[in-house]
Amino acid sequence: MRSLQTYSADHRFLVEQVSQAAGLVDPVVVDLDEFYEPVLRHAKKKALIPIDGVLVRDWDPDNRRIYPGIQLGSRLYDLDGIRFARVRFAYDNHQNGWGFDFIVVERKNYSRLYKVALTSRRDSEPPSQAPVMKKDQMDLLWQNTIGYLDRSNLRRIKEYGGRAKRGVLLMGPPGNGKTSACRYIWQECRRRRWEWRLVTPDSYRQARSSDSIEELFSVDRRGIVFFDDMDIALRDRDTVHETEDQAVFLSALDGISVNEGVVFVFTTNCSLDLIDRAFKRPGRIDLVLHFDAPTAELRRELLERWHPDIRNALDINKAVSSTDGLSFAEVEELKNLLIMHFMDKNEWNWDWAIRQLDINRHDLASTNKRKRHVGFGAIDAHSKEEIPFNGH
Ligand SMILES: Nc1ncnc2c1ncn2[C@@H]1O[C@H](COP(=O)(O)OP(=O)(O)OP(=O)(O)O)[C@@H](O)[C@H]1O
Ligand SMILES: [Mg+2]
Repeated sequence: MRSLQTYSADHRFLVEQVSQAAGLVDPVVVDLDEFYEPVLRHAKKKALIPIDGVLVRDWDPDNRRIYPGIQLGSRLYDLDGIRFARVRFAYDNHQNGWGFDFIVVERKNYSRLYKVALTSRRDSEPPSQAPVMKKDQMDLLWQNTIGYLDRSNLRRIKEYGGRAKRGVLLMGPPGNGKTSACRYIWQECRRRRWEWRLVTPDSYRQARSSDSIEELFSVDRRGIVFFDDMDIALRDRDTVHETEDQAVFLSALDGISVNEGVVFVFTTNCSLDLIDRAFKRPGRIDLVLHFDAPTAELRRELLERWHPDIRNALDINKAVSSTDGLSFAEVEELKNLLIMHFMDKNEWNWDWAIRQLDINRHDLASTNKRKRHVGFGAIDAHSKEEIPFNGH
């Protein structure tokens, strides 16, 4: 543990070093929090400045736009003529990082920066589109992930002595929005500059072999860890006989140190009774959300999102009733078939698309056929779009 005096002395040292090197007079320190992304999107990147001779660059091509490109050091920015520096010097992961990760601006520009930040936020990217879901289900998902990690919520949980860690399980048959919901929440995380991680069976296996599971599961700040299709870890031990794998998984999960707050989101298509009892304990999974095939109302909502040209050419009522029992992914596949047919024949032909989907499903279901005739080449109705791998 570092004492309060050394913590604040370290902080002051960083502020002094950077202000001097960047020529920022009378510096004020700010944590941009929700404004970080919009502000950095609008600001121009300027010089890198070492701190006490230390500058560690970080190559992060996926996040080039808004990340400073350093692990340790600082970078100057210019936003509408306001100069500020981002300092990044969190050298102790066990300590809260606010004193070591912040921006510095001159006092005379402080209020103006706030005003420009407000405008930048307004202009920044619109929220990503949520998957089609019942409102109460979406509310639950939101409250238990993004809402849960809200600073004031976390503060209250801590005040009452609660645990700032939560597990949510999304389950249901393929193609009904589990991964889509994860992607939506992940984007909301990213917009807020919170941490997120994605654990897939592949990355899990890799981490196991290199003994770095805890690293894979944990976030330093507020954040969400997504376990997509991690059935190997969730399934009942008595039926899968993979006790060792699960024991490792569970102990890694329980061993996570919660710095600010963490939510685990699991997805699976195995049914609740096939999930190991050990998982259903509070503290591991606190909430289960079912992602079932869409009701008529939800199918209508999905169809309403299609391009107006397609919608206008359709008998929506007929389309809704003829898609009864299909998954969201299959309904979306109908749209692709409609488009392909339109490119070929210049007509929107619903009946053809329905027939073709049926043929495709039938062909894909029969495994012993040597030759498949699948529409316009191989179409996988449930092709999985993966969330890009791992990020902060
Ligand atoms: N609720 C939804 N709203 C809009 N589109 C959806 C929804 N659910 C699924 N889709 C469409 O189907 C595709 C596949 O869905 P998704 O990957 O989310 O399914 P899943 O439940 O994760 O399936 P699996 O169990 O196979 O992993 C998505 O890319 C999207 O086009
Ligand atoms: Mg999925």
